[in-house]
Amino acid sequence: MTDKLIYTQKIFTGSRELLIDKVSQALSAKRFEHVLRVEEMALQLAEKWHVDAELASIAALTHDYAKERSDEDFLREIEKKQLDRDLINWGNNIWHGVVGAEMVKDELGIAHEDILNAIRQHTTGATVMTKLSQILYMADYIEAGRDFPGVEEVRTLAFDDLAASVGWQTAHTLTFLLTQKVTIYPGTLLTYNTWSVDK
Ligand SMILES: [Fe+2]
Ligand SMILES: [Fe+2]
Repeated sequence: MTDKLIYTQKIFTGSRELLIDKVSQALSAKRFEHVLRVEEMALQLAEKWHVDAELASIAALTHDYAKERSDEDFLREIEKKQLDRDLINWGNNIWHGVVGAEMVKDELGIAHEDILNAIRQHTTGATVMTKLSQILYMADYIEAGRDFPGVEEVRTLAFDDLAASVGWQTAHTLTFLLTQKVTIYPGTLLTYNTWSVDK
């Protein structure tokens, strides 16, 4: 599916191969392989839900670009970009999306807001999500390497009812987090209230 994908929209200055090269340099081999599997899944979902393949590819390839950066890097970026001060109270899980999008913008030169928002929202979701954002959120969760109870069910659901699959993921993630007795990022609760609750 990715073999014949040629970037034509100048969202990224360079080819898909160049972007892959840059992303691979920022990540461990294991995480880079995850990123390629997310792209594969994102492209399948994009085809199904009529979302632009180039946008889906770029969002998927860059979504974890900042995942292996140091806490100091993120804290410096929060300061530099004057991002929400509350971010300081969180950690890599939240930062690599919300703050990582700024690094994708500055270091890879990708300024497309739909792509940056999809990166920002990929861990926690959001109350308002474009189809691209929903696709990245789901592709990250159901890529071929994922294995957890219900993964086949939610893979099928993502191709039947994308919004319902966003609700499924959020409810399951929240349920898991509650068993871990960890602090819940308020944004995750807002996502849950919007996408997981029967209306
Ligand atoms: Fe991530
Ligand atoms: Fe990921």
